[in-house]
Amino acid sequence: MREQSNIPKRSSNRRSFLKNGLTAAGAATMAPGLLANGSTLFAQAQEQATGALSKGDAALLRFAAAAEIIESDFWRQYNELAGIQDNEVQGGSGNPIYTEKLKTLDEDMDVYIHDNTDDEITHFRFLNAYLASKGAASANLDKFRTLPSSKATGARQIGRLTNLMQLTLDTSWWTRYRGFANNPDLDPNFRFPQAVPDLSKGQFPAIPRTDADLSPDAHIQAIANTAALHFPTIEQGGNSLYPALAQRANSVEVLRILISIGPTETMHFQTWADKATHTVSPPLAPLTDPTNGLTFPDLSNAGKLFTPNLIMPEPCPFLSRRLPKCSIIRPTETKGAAIGAVKFLTDMGLFIGQSKAFFELLQALAQDADAATRGTI
Ligand SMILES: [Fe+2]
Ligand SMILES: [Fe+2]
Repeated sequence: MREQSNIPKRSSNRRSFLKNGLTAAGAATMAPGLLANGSTLFAQAQEQATGALSKGDAALLRFAAAAEIIESDFWRQYNELAGIQDNEVQGGSGNPIYTEKLKTLDEDMDVYIHDNTDDEITHFRFLNAYLASKGAASANLDKFRTLPSSKATGARQIGRLTNLMQLTLDTSWWTRYRGFANNPDLDPNFRFPQAVPDLSKGQFPAIPRTDADLSPDAHIQAIANTAALHFPTIEQGGNSLYPALAQRANSVEVLRILISIGPTETMHFQTWADKATHTVSPPLAPLTDPTNGLTFPDLSNAGKLFTPNLIMPEPCPFLSRRLPKCSIIRPTETKGAAIGAVKFLTDMGLFIGQSKAFFELLQALAQDADAATRGTI
């Protein structure tokens, strides 16, 4: 909530932010001039003739590209410290102690971190290249790479878009996917319980900030556990965002892009949801960080809503309670999906330290995406 105050309402000179945040080639082709003269039908015909994207389709993909750039930025930070540094994902030299603590959860964590990072990089590169191929503006957040890196062994010292050192995690997805009675789309006021309540109440590092964070043992394990819960928390967001945006795509090809990338986020989520179960099961759980009291409970006997190994989506009401329950991604409500994603990332603390201009650009990109309407240009 604290970051919400940093997000201004739609700025009156929004165009200047868009211009500054978008590639020069694309900015000139943005739609405002196109429809301002009232010749909408002419514009539609022209776009169909040239294969150009509708304004709404471009905005949907541009917002997705910005989200993927953000994902790439923090996944790179994880990969530098605890992934595999190679030609596919360059940078960093690894932090042996932090890597070992993540590998306590699964010995292949470094491979999964590397591959998730690689996936996000390919997502934003593809989306931006596709936008450019259609003469539309792509997303570029480079000028906001200003946040500090971890000073721990293994991290590169470069400017970052995202902050992994003060996270507040909403782990209610845990019970949202295990619950059979409620769907956030049908029950927007229902509060799904948190898996790790402490993570939703304070600000916690998910990477070692300096080498001083590498001990005591329970402290660096708690940092690794925080990362292991951050991974599925983020990826379930993408898991909902893509189907939510896809419902407002106009072109079948844009629809195809959104429904082809989206399920890879689901594959990430499913993998991480499984790994995260080890943070709340014996022998690791319960675990308390002696430096700040952050506790990871043992959920193995906490009831069906929390049972660690129930990682498949429990069937729940979908569209109407008159219809039979269905195992589905939730939420997938399309209205306000992009703005909701920005709030989700901001509330997480991922952007603590970012500039007002950054929030304004992100908000503008989200508003444009949420203004996209199926069936109109
Ligand atoms: Fe992605
Ligand atoms: Fe992702």
